[in-house]
Amino acid sequence: DTRDPTSLRTPIVAVLGHVDHGKTSLLDKIRGSAVIEGEAGAITQHIGATAVPLDIISTIAGDLVDPDDFDLPGLLFIDTPGHHSFTTLRSRGGALADIAILVVDVNDGFQPQTLEALDILKRSETPFIVAANKIDTVPGWNPNEDSPINDTYESQSERVRQRLDESLYEIIGNLSDEGFSADLYWRVQNFQRNVGVVPVSAMTGEGVPDLLTVMMGLSQRYMKEEMEIDVAGPGVGTVLEVKEEKGFGTTIDTVLYDGTIRSDDQLVVGGQNEPIVTEVRALLQPRPLAEIRTESRFEKVDEVSAASGIKVAAPELADAMAGAPVRVVRNRDLEEVVAEVQAEL
Ligand code: GTP
Ligand code: MG
Repeated sequence: DTRDPTSLRTPIVAVLGHVDHGKTSLLDKIRGSAVIEGEAGAITQHIGATAVPLDIISTIAGDLVDPDDFDLPGLLFIDTPGHHSFTTLRSRGGALADIAILVVDVNDGFQPQTLEALDILKRSETPFIVAANKIDTVPGWNPNEDSPINDTYESQSERVRQRLDESLYEIIGNLSDEGFSADLYWRVQNFQRNVGVVPVSAMTGEGVPDLLTVMMGLSQRYMKEEMEIDVAGPGVGTVLEVKEEKGFGTTIDTVLYDGTIRSDDQLVVGGQNEPIVTEVRALLQPRPLAEIRTESRFEKVDEVSAASGIKVAAPELADAMAGAPVRVVRNRDLEEVVAEVQAEL
């Protein structure tokens, strides 16, 4: 057998930013565009995540993305809450992500959780771009649904362009104050050294083609090697949240970033006192919207591969911790896996 066991997984993209700056709306817009293109089925809703395949990205981005230029399968977005009390979820999301989008309301500018998110990205050394959102709220804005930024910018009056430019340069200045060299994304040559700012509107979809193009390009150019994984290997992930679920007891919402997890796997999960050794009882995915009336919101699956978001039901999870590692044992030595989890706590 000469097949290459490695394959390229989907990069994990965390969406971070201050409360109400438009993180969820941006993901809704991307999902909605796919529905309009009649490809709703192609976008899968994971636990805590949304998977957008390359062909959908290329449909939304139009001329900006040629799928033949890419071999990464798409992007897996993780939404995070902006409310100040959810620091843990934000830092988990930030640490877990391969890349991130920092959403900043163009009118509201930098706010406490914008700074907090920047700090998380700095500490975890996660490359990111800034989505300068809500450009449609610039007074006098002439909306052009789903248009690339250059086209819609050209169609604005001189006055409106000036107003937008001022807000964008303020954001670039704020980034510079925090030690990041930043510029409008079309002027950035090296995205590893400079932060690209992409003007967007989650409401009208303007700039969304650019945002997806930049994220895809950034991943392809700088993350490709890190995305090479042994998909069939034992799964590795991080606990995003520990939740009680009716009929399933304590469950862990997990983002898998390596290998596969199966419904009969033995697992080691980071606990409050020591690693927990347990066995999967069920792997749960959200049901497609059409089936939401059935009694369970979840559907059992036999296995999932990275990258994905999955709810794992298993005994003994009461002490599991958000942010802790999850490792599948399978044919590995249990003591060795326990030691690995212990070392990561
Ligand atoms: P949290 O999850 O609470 O941190 O907020 P969020 O960042 O997910 O913001 P959300 O997407 O919920 O949007 C907050 C509000 O801003 C909603 O009323 C949205 O309709 C509005 N909004 C988001 N993006 C845009 C935009 O581009 N233009 C306009 N006009 N409104 C927007
Ligand atoms: Mg939200």
